[in-house]
Amino acid sequence: MIILAIETSCDDTCIAIIKTEGKKKPKFKILSNLVSSQVKLHAKYGGVYPTLAKREHQKNLPLILKKALRQAQGKPIDLIAVTIGHGLDPCLWAGLNFAKDLAGKFKKPLIPVNHIEAHILANLIDRDEISTKFLAVALVVSGGHTGLFLMKGIGQYKLIGETRDDAAGECFDKAARILGLGYPGGPIISKLAIDQGSASIKLPRPMIHQKNYDFSFSGLKTAILYDFKSRSPKVRKSKKYIKEMAAEIQQAIIDVLIKKTIKAARDYRAKAIILGGGVVANNELRKQFRKQDVKVYAPDIKYCTDNAAMIGVTAYFQYLQGRYPKNWQRIAVSANLRI
Ligand code: KG4
Ligand code: ZN
Repeated sequence: MIILAIETSCDDTCIAIIKTEGKKKPKFKILSNLVSSQVKLHAKYGGVYPTLAKREHQKNLPLILKKALRQAQGKPIDLIAVTIGHGLDPCLWAGLNFAKDLAGKFKKPLIPVNHIEAHILANLIDRDEISTKFLAVALVVSGGHTGLFLMKGIGQYKLIGETRDDAAGECFDKAARILGLGYPGGPIISKLAIDQGSASIKLPRPMIHQKNYDFSFSGLKTAILYDFKSRSPKVRKSKKYIKEMAAEIQQAIIDVLIKKTIKAARDYRAKAIILGGGVVANNELRKQFRKQDVKVYAPDIKYCTDNAAMIGVTAYFQYLQGRYPKNWQRIAVSANLRI
């Protein structure tokens, strides 16, 4: 089966064409996986400007589709998949309307996909060692979401904890803005955080000792702001301060994410931890998670940040399980969609 997948929930315009093989233990061949980043456009705002992002998606989608179809060598499309949430409302509509036009044109089913589930199932791309029936704890950490899920199998997720304020990626982004480093903050901070373990700055690890599985990152952001403001203009601009700060911000976020996820895995006797979302592109986070005493899965780095291949893979499982509405004309987006 050939699936055409579309993802426009935030500032990346993504189209993928994937080929599926098998039903019991499906494998996926990625024929095309294109991501057109709007980072430069939004950098001056220090975050994503939704109506501008929507216009860019509308402009980019037809161009990227042409390229994707060329890369897939004109293979006939059997199914169309599109992200309907969560995300930025105008951006989601740009993708959904484009997908509906295509579903009409190709006369093929359209499957609406949950972006968070797709970040989890990104682990099944280019891998076959993950069984599809297991008890796992999934941590999704992105720019818009931080959530812990108990996963009994594909399509069976129970939210057990989430952020009470900012998402982990959002904290990286806001911290970078405070330090005047640009957008998106995660990759910039992780590059600067090479001297891990410098102890001169100590930031809080919010909620780390609480018994629940929830997170809070806005207090960390405030602590970063206070520390920055307390320094002289000379120190604020110094490489030493910025590097130490970057290392401490990264470590504070990693400490909380690992502690809470490991606690959940132990409490629920999970067989594995499954990571997903843009923050999982962080090498130090991956490294420190892998040192833990539990089996940890993380997608290939290129499938951590937003992409449409993960949307196609998720849609295929929904298709196999019959988890999609038959009347696609009535599908709408849901900016706050949960799983
Ligand atoms: O999943 P994603 O591409 O988009 C959303 O669904 O939000 O995640 C984007 C987030 C941004 O906040 C970005 O700063 C963060 O992922 N990110 C990283 C890294 N690469 C991207 N955070 C930490 N380290 C990275 N290497
Ligand atoms: Zn995402």
